Amino acid sequence: MIEYNEKLRCYHLQTKSTSYIIHILGKGYVENLYYGKKINSVNDESINALLEKNGTGYGNSVVCPEDATCTLDSVSLEYSFEGTGDYRNLPIQIVMPGGETSAEFISTGYTTYKGIFKQCNTTGMPYAHAGINDEAIETLEIITKDTKTGIICKLVYTVYEKCDVITRRVVIDNVSNSAIKINKIMSMQLDLPDKHYRMYTYDGMWARERMQHIKQLESGIFVNASTTGSSSNRHNPYIMLEKNKGREAFKSCYAFNLIYSGNHYEAVEVSGYDKLRIMSGINPDKFEWTLDKETEFVTPEAIMSYSNEGVEMLSQTMHRFINTHIIANRWQGKERPVLINNWEATYFDFNEARLMKLARAAKEVGIELFVLDDGWFGDRNTDKTSLGDWNANERKLGGSLATFSRKIEELGMKFGLWFEPEMISEESELYKAHPDWAVKVPQRTTYTGRNQLFLDLTRTEVRDYVVDIVNKNIKEAHISYVKWDMNRHLTDAYSLGLGSRQGEFSHRYILGLYDLFERIVEENPEVLFEGCSSGGNRFDLGILYYMPQIWTSDDTDANERIDIQQGTAAGYPLSTMGAHVSAVPNHQTLRNTSLETRFNVACFGALGYELDVTRLTKAEKKIVINQIEFYKEYRKVFLYGDFYYEELDDGSIVWQVVSSDKNVSVLMLYQRLARVNSAHAVIRFAGLDKDAEYEITNRPQSISVKQFGELVNQVTPVHITEAGVLQSIINKVYMLDS
Ligand code: DGJ
Repeated sequence: MIEYNEKLRCYHLQTKSTSYIIHILGKGYVENLYYGKKINSVNDESINALLEKNGTGYGNSVVCPEDATCTLDSVSLEYSFEGTGDYRNLPIQIVMPGGETSAEFISTGYTTYKGIFKQCNTTGMPYAHAGINDEAIETLEIITKDTKTGIICKLVYTVYEKCDVITRRVVIDNVSNSAIKINKIMSMQLDLPDKHYRMYTYDGMWARERMQHIKQLESGIFVNASTTGSSSNRHNPYIMLEKNKGREAFKSCYAFNLIYSGNHYEAVEVSGYDKLRIMSGINPDKFEWTLDKETEFVTPEAIMSYSNEGVEMLSQTMHRFINTHIIANRWQGKERPVLINNWEATYFDFNEARLMKLARAAKEVGIELFVLDDGWFGDRNTDKTSLGDWNANERKLGGSLATFSRKIEELGMKFGLWFEPEMISEESELYKAHPDWAVKVPQRTTYTGRNQLFLDLTRTEVRDYVVDIVNKNIKEAHISYVKWDMNRHLTDAYSLGLGSRQGEFSHRYILGLYDLFERIVEENPEVLFEGCSSGGNRFDLGILYYMPQIWTSDDTDANERIDIQQGTAAGYPLSTMGAHVSAVPNHQTLRNTSLETRFNVACFGALGYELDVTRLTKAEKKIVINQIEFYKEYRKVFLYGDFYYEELDDGSIVWQVVSSDKNVSVLMLYQRLARVNSAHAVIRFAGLDKDAEYEITNRPQSISVKQFGELVNQVTPVHITEAGVLQSIINKVYMLDS
């Protein structure tokens, strides 16, 4: 709900449990009075209590011309600008028609309406949609105008009442007579009155994405950003702030995210007056935008939420919000197929016979979707070649893609296919025909990653090619699932089509990418798309708007996945995480974990298998059949249940999901290292109905004889040599109960 109190000059944005109060200061500066636990009555008294009481101007501070007691350097502002004495990190910098970077955006009016931001369909960017019949959404647009040029800066707030989320974006309308240059433009700024917070960030690199780090905030600016051209595996755009001093310590907390897949920037500043300034938006590094007269620039949409019940609840709020307002309505609450992916089973080394054998074995254990990964097209037997040539290698597939797909479907499985549509190999037919389509800076060394170059998605003819060729494959081969990969970071950001506006490349690339998604993903609504970028290099809300799940990481080791998946779950629902059972020794860490452990971790997500299932022993096959049956029985809870986690004293991890009706819960205890004679673990179930009675059962699990080595001889009548013939025969058919 949004209310405006004319007398108090206050907007009161209310969600189910939070209040956000904006106040218009004397001249028209837009002030933030409050964001936190819901305030039920906003009246003269409560506003008066919240208003900051200014004394006089402080020492050498710059003061407002009309009020010498007001220094904007200490006011909590909704959006701040240059040249007015606010020396904190500023959210915007515009080179005005006169060449100055000073601005004075003063509130001149507002509009409110039901539903989401009216222009969201025309921004070319993903946004938090209205969900299915959510009528409790309202939008507020506060119009501010630059006092000299009349240029408009609209502050847009959308309130998702039921989900406790408020989103923000900013629109610049250049109503002046000449072009202006935007050097920096954040989607949101929030000033909070005190500094005692810890900041949660989700950082990493390839194969160790979204590791949670908690930093104590101190004076200065803490930046969480990416410059790799995508939201990146380095610093995810999701951050949380948790109060860690005073009465509300470890309860009061905020979450922020950005619906954007490119370079992002989140900064939290502890100012000289011990206030906190938070902002989030497109990274100003590698961004500039020339805004022609009479045109608008709209920022990506930023997301905010507050909870007074701790960060775990905030994560659950994010899960609900993403599942309802980011994931496309057509995928809401939908169960995802258990898949087999051939990548770690075969890499590039496959032919039709090998794939069909894999598919048949997969079908036998209950797998529902066969995904053919990299290597099915052109001459792609290594990663040096053929990206861009999206024509099936019929020699490898034993016929056309359509024929191969039909063979899979005849087995009773769906067929899925890997693409990397944004890329081009220099060794490819496409490159021979269109060398200028590759992203390069003329007369400069070109830097490659995984032997490949970006296609210049800022150009329409390039996008048209990609749309046609990918759509043609999807249609002709009756594809039910697409894994959309992207395997390098951006360098050489330059387009032959951009002339002197090269600073716009990175953002225009992302707009080009979203155009591809609109024309490929939205054109094939029945196809399940899974995002991927060398694992989880682009795990963000922009991708999730189009693709309901993302390959979480190339690291499939169960122990590593504990940190990766738990870090990811801080901001994203389990339904969005692709999680696979792979072979041991694990291909990334060479670690051995049991087949059961690998499943126990992978089932907290969209489950798949990525190993050569034809090589499973009879006993292992039985285990996998049981695992998949179990997953199917509880799939909805794993994908959409409320997620709880806890670290026990000995470092063991507890993960738990609870169905929305609280009838079913599945809990996993993950012991990082086996200990001897250790204390009993005490597990507290969370989120259950306190008035209900629950029956608790363990999932029966098995353990291989091999794991006991020579020790097994302590109980066997005949001697079994470790790794000997007898052990391997027993191991094939028999497993011990664990
Ligand atoms: C990177 C992905 O993350 C992998 O799963 C696999 O699809 C490879 N690319 C294929 O090149």
